[in-house]
Amino acid sequence: MEYSISNRMKAVKGSAIREIFKYAADPEVISLAGGNPAPELFPAAELSAIAADLLTHQPTLSLQYGITEGYTPLRDALKKRLAEREGIGRESDDLLIMSGGQQGIDLTTKVLLNEGDVILVEEPSFIGALNAFRSYGVKLVGIPLEEGGVDPRKVEKAIAENENVKAMYVIPTFQNPMGTTMTLEKRKGLYEVAKRHGLILIEDNPYGELTFDGSKLPTLKSMDTEGLVVYCGSFSKILAPGLRVGFLCADKALTARIAVAKQTSDVHTPMLTQLLCYEFLRRYDIDALIEKMRATYAHRCDVMLRAIEQYFPKGVTYTRPGGGLFIWCDLGHGLDAAALAPQAAANKVVFVPGSAFMVDGERPTSTLRLNYSTMSDERIVEGIKRLGDLFTRVLAEQE
Ligand SMILES: Cc1ncc(COP(=O)(O)O)c(C=O)c1O
Repeated sequence: MEYSISNRMKAVKGSAIREIFKYAADPEVISLAGGNPAPELFPAAELSAIAADLLTHQPTLSLQYGITEGYTPLRDALKKRLAEREGIGRESDDLLIMSGGQQGIDLTTKVLLNEGDVILVEEPSFIGALNAFRSYGVKLVGIPLEEGGVDPRKVEKAIAENENVKAMYVIPTFQNPMGTTMTLEKRKGLYEVAKRHGLILIEDNPYGELTFDGSKLPTLKSMDTEGLVVYCGSFSKILAPGLRVGFLCADKALTARIAVAKQTSDVHTPMLTQLLCYEFLRRYDIDALIEKMRATYAHRCDVMLRAIEQYFPKGVTYTRPGGGLFIWCDLGHGLDAAALAPQAAANKVVFVPGSAFMVDGERPTSTLRLNYSTMSDERIVEGIKRLGDLFTRVLAEQE
């Protein structure tokens, strides 16, 4: 049967990363392509004890329909945590539980943007968000992401040069895919631009807590006096992504609309996983768990950076993330990283070419994303060595 696919979804291709995962199923393949948290850090025993307890003692609460906005004690616990740690949450704000941070991005777009409206995005940016925007027929305009964040002057220029710029999507801290962090000056500058133009800022912060040295910068939402910032957060990278529990904090006038949109989508986030998150926060020390994650990722990132220094050819540039899960490399020399990916896969190592994260995914780029979160030191070093051998050979052939 030939299906006639909606215009809305025709332009959205399956994630390149999901395609690459097909290779990653082979145990001999070293995958630097994923973005998964380290599974050995999932608190499985604790979650198992909570789940047994919930299903034995609170079966109705765990299994019955819940309210769309989310389980109230979890919402309250998150409001408190965000207020204490991030200075987020004014009288006029509310917080909703989402089925992952991804749903917060999706529903915000659904509620605020019309087909043909423009959304500004850091370029490169998170594929899941880019595809969510595409699925609503929204036009994407990329602002080049530099070390230290996008230049607010370029944002203002893009607003002047494009009609109907409604919003900008940003990942200010430990960006996916670049691993970079926006400076305080640029955060303030970007918020000022948003204020001048009534620009909505979708601030996505799933990695903020994964800071290697404990330092952190104020979120855009903490500066938000005007109700312009929609803040998306998640338990995916600080507890477990399979729970599918995220959250969104925004002005009440907007969260009321987003709650209605959620009713047409999944009605509410599963009660059982919301309760698991809530009870984990109540019974255990999530900050101790996050501390373990930080130490693990800081170590693996360091191992990868040292291996890159040792094995990658001179002239290859790369970011040095202060947290999160990713390093971004630029091979330069006019190379097309996407064309090298199959050769790398033949050598049993996979990465995601930078083109996957661009507004125009067809344009060749010499950039690529590397992930270090799930592997042993030995596999990280071996993976980088295999890539280094390939890049050295390809560059030598070019000369
Ligand atoms: C920048 C960014 N935002 C959002 C998400 C989605 O996370 P969630 O599992 O909370 O939907 C991811 C997942 O990798 C991400 O990298």
